[in-house]
Amino acid sequence: MGYVGAGEFVPESHDLASLASAARSCRGCDLYRDADQTVFGAGSVGSTIMFVGEQPGDQEDRAGEPFVGPAGKLFDRALDAAGIDRELTYVTNAVKHFKFTRAAGRKRRIHDKPKHTEVVACRPWLLAELDAVSPRIVVCLGATAAQALLGPDFRVTQHRGERFNLASDGDVGSGHDEDVLATVHPSSILRGPRDRREEAFDAFVADLTAVRDLVVDR
Ligand code: URA
Ligand code: SF4
Repeated sequence: MGYVGAGEFVPESHDLASLASAARSCRGCDLYRDADQTVFGAGSVGSTIMFVGEQPGDQEDRAGEPFVGPAGKLFDRALDAAGIDRELTYVTNAVKHFKFTRAAGRKRRIHDKPKHTEVVACRPWLLAELDAVSPRIVVCLGATAAQALLGPDFRVTQHRGERFNLASDGDVGSGHDEDVLATVHPSSILRGPRDRREEAFDAFVADLTAVRDLVVDR
């Protein structure tokens, strides 16, 4: 199904405060209907690293902040281990509303993966955030974010850690030339087999450390 998309809700002025405020009333796809609120990106203009997750989860939807739940806690630990100060980065999601299902009669909300049409509908926000933040590198956490920027055929398993450029490799139209790379989503480490968790975490930290080395001025 086609959605009108976020485009017509994005204000002319791409400063972060205007964007975040306008995004609160976005009706670009149907996901605003069941979620509590829009979860916009957090961080500041001029952040050298912009992280892009998939969509807010249950706790993010309640708090209105990205990556504050279990995946966010793991992300925080990995950033720490890689020597990256989260305060100096910008953290957002490909999709700004929490998509979930409920098992019949249950209260618990279960994460439901956004469709590519929803990712595309929400993308004007992500591109406007790119304009506002102007990061040196965009780090996609998982396939949804990577496919939002690099196209639906992109596979993290094949291209993990590789550098791409939005002007030559992107799937976002003209006007963007940011460098992008993809790594795994922190949730994939939490969901993975317990006996492989430490190894998966270390590999994630290694990817983040390589990102830090890219942006550190020597
Ligand atoms: N997973 C995401 O992709 N983003 C969040 O903000 C939280 C969990
Ligand atoms: Fe708008 Fe994105 Fe929310 Fe859809 S998910 S209503 S496009 S902010």
